[in-house]
Amino acid sequence: MSLFNVYPLFDITPVIANDVYVYDNKGTKYLDLYGGHAVISIGHSHPTYVKNVSEQVSKLGFYSNAIQNPLQVELASQLENISGCKDYQLFLCNSGAEANENALKLSSFHTGKQKVIAFKNSFHGRTSAAVAATDNPKIIAPINAQQEVIFLEFEDLEGVEKALQNNDVCAIIIETIQGIGGLDEASTTFYQGLENLCKQYNTLLIADEIQCGFGRTGDFFAFQKHGITPHIISMAKGMGNGFPVGGILIHPSVEASYGLLGTTFGGNHLACAASLAVLETIQKEQLMENAQQIAAYFMEQAASIPQLKAVKGRGLMLGLEFDFPIAELRKSLIFKHHIFTGSAKNPNLLRILPPLTIQKQHIDVFFEALKKELS
Ligand SMILES: Cc1ncc(COP(=O)(O)O)c(C=O)c1O
Repeated sequence: MSLFNVYPLFDITPVIANDVYVYDNKGTKYLDLYGGHAVISIGHSHPTYVKNVSEQVSKLGFYSNAIQNPLQVELASQLENISGCKDYQLFLCNSGAEANENALKLSSFHTGKQKVIAFKNSFHGRTSAAVAATDNPKIIAPINAQQEVIFLEFEDLEGVEKALQNNDVCAIIIETIQGIGGLDEASTTFYQGLENLCKQYNTLLIADEIQCGFGRTGDFFAFQKHGITPHIISMAKGMGNGFPVGGILIHPSVEASYGLLGTTFGGNHLACAASLAVLETIQKEQLMENAQQIAAYFMEQAASIPQLKAVKGRGLMLGLEFDFPIAELRKSLIFKHHIFTGSAKNPNLLRILPPLTIQKQHIDVFFEALKKELS
């Protein structure tokens, strides 16, 4: 049987990994500035993660959501402590798309409305309403296009209000910092304006923190810099350090009822054990502080690269923008210098999404390689 051929693959086969390094089947060591697409938060094979997940699988790997699972309760409590998001309610699922799907569905249940507002260059996942709210017609199948989505520009509060006036919009969904779309972030005035308009028109504000959340920017959630209180916060990627887990935090004003949402695998024992290891390690190793410090160091080093047009993003969610397509540069970084980086919808943007454990010496290695390639 062949694999359904949907991914253009680099010819590299990782077999082992440790902290910020990945080793392939030929023993070549790669510096991971891509974090498996912003997924590796506390470092590959972190000892706390390995211990938590191994011990849990040896006791109980899975049982359904029809029984008590104290690990979910513990995860909710730890999430409240570390994020400072008080009195939110946690619903667990398995991926980012699923988190947004549940966020949008819940918004529709809560408001009784069905349209969605999303933004240009957005990416919210590949399923049903989540993909419909993604600004990429190539990945929206006719079946997904049934969901009506109004795409607007960042900063267009007037357009948002006009769209809300028909009283048929259940949710505004926004990545606090856009991921694949190219690391753009709207202003605090815009975020606060969205929050006010949502209150005024009985629409829910969904902060998609799937990529930018879980400590990546130095704040636990990226929206916290803007002083807003979203109705729903969606999470995944860094949440499980590679174990598939996602979730939504739901504001206390949105009430639960039996059967409203549900999942077989979401919040299973292994997923909770993985995510608890992530939270414990972020705190113990002060990884949010590290993200801020390393980001500042990265910016200083980037200032010495004359070919750079801009450095986008914040914390350890960064993009280097050049005035040429970066595809060849990215290949050279991988195959000549053994450094993984990421790409974006903007062909001129090289993305840096390392584990939050990264240190200055790794940044030095990257800039040395970059300078060689650009000279
Ligand atoms: C901002 C954002 N939302 C949603 C998703 C979808 O997550 P998943 O691939 O886990 O379904 C992604 C994945 O890249 C993302 O970056």
